[in-house]
Amino acid sequence: MNKIFLSAPAGLVPWTLREAADLGLVDPQADQGEKAAEVHPQSGIEIAGGAEEIYRANLHLRTATRIFLQLGAFYVSDFAALRHHVSRLPWQRYMASGQSLLVRAESSQSRLFHEHAVEREVSKAVIDRAEMLGFRLRIPADQETPDHFLLVEITRNRCTIRLDTSGEALNRRGYRQALAKAPLRETLAAGMLLASEWDQVSPLVDPFCGSGTIPIEAALLARKVPPGWQRAFAFQKWPSFQADLWESILAVAEQKIEESSVPIYGMDRNAGAVNACLQNAERAGAAQWIHFRQQAISDLPHLPGPGWVVTNPPYGQRVSAGSDLRNLYARFGDVLRSSCRSWRFAILCSDETLFRQTRLVPERALPMFNGAIAVKCFIGQIK
Ligand SMILES: C[S@@+](CC[C@H](N)C(=O)[O-])C[C@H]1O[C@@H](n2cnc3c(N)ncnc32)[C@H](O)[C@@H]1O
Repeated sequence: MNKIFLSAPAGLVPWTLREAADLGLVDPQADQGEKAAEVHPQSGIEIAGGAEEIYRANLHLRTATRIFLQLGAFYVSDFAALRHHVSRLPWQRYMASGQSLLVRAESSQSRLFHEHAVEREVSKAVIDRAEMLGFRLRIPADQETPDHFLLVEITRNRCTIRLDTSGEALNRRGYRQALAKAPLRETLAAGMLLASEWDQVSPLVDPFCGSGTIPIEAALLARKVPPGWQRAFAFQKWPSFQADLWESILAVAEQKIEESSVPIYGMDRNAGAVNACLQNAERAGAAQWIHFRQQAISDLPHLPGPGWVVTNPPYGQRVSAGSDLRNLYARFGDVLRSSCRSWRFAILCSDETLFRQTRLVPERALPMFNGAIAVKCFIGQIK
């Protein structure tokens, strides 16, 4: 059993924990033992497992950013000790000739505080060790996506070495290539859907859908399509990769994909955005499940429901949002009360004053991050 870290942004960790529990990767009630989880509310969840858990977490988790495998943990107070410990790790299981390695270090309250020097020393120790074992690693070229990414964390002289198993971050499902303005990360869109408690059978509407992230994630969720179904992962490049195990995990997941007739709507007043939605949904294999329409919020028709409105309207990053935005939010609230009364809502906004213009009364306001911007997901019922 190894330690595996399911990294997730602050705000999404509770949903990653729930997803991990649904997958049977952890038991949230267990204090100790194999299925116990160590929850770090700002950064993710540590679980125990091996290849199967790594493969399943990467394939299925909708809200996690990356899955890391812990290769080692030890105390260090100088570079010689760091190099010694690093060179003893089993690099040949994970890396092969010609592959590139990027090392990132974070250090706090430790004698080895110079992060660039730690990165350089670890990188050199791994490359030298590989050379001794008969294979050659390289530093990635500028702009090159590395084959392997190693995270070195030193806290109070305790050094933890984690190897990324995901490759590209997990929000990159592979379908979203056409972008509209201010797109949401796929992981955040999935987090909003989970936080909204959408029942996956009632209608779902995103009236500010931009590039379509929320409706597409909704369609994938309702059909039980794994978010990692269409992409590759770093662990597939490992010499120790178990192709048979991976194929069997994929086959089980594919058998669980369902047809779905749940009505999902995406609307945006911008024609370019609607076009981007169609292209993205096509790539995600979700186009036939979503009704996209070019439409301003003021023209939102009465929809059969009740259902869920899950959306992130435009927002200024400052508290003093312009009067156009304030009017838009006031209008949005009025439209929801007339077209979607008694529906549930989950609305992402960085600015509470702006949100209040809708005169919707949230039951909860969950703090989340949209990239670097602190936002809240306001959840409640339209009354
Ligand atoms: C923050 S973006 C949504 C991003 C989207 N969630 C995504 O992942 O791409 C807000 C969207 O609202 C649209 N919008 C602005 N005013 C609108 C209005 N009055 N009616 C409908 N859509 C509007 C913009 O065109 C923009 O695409």
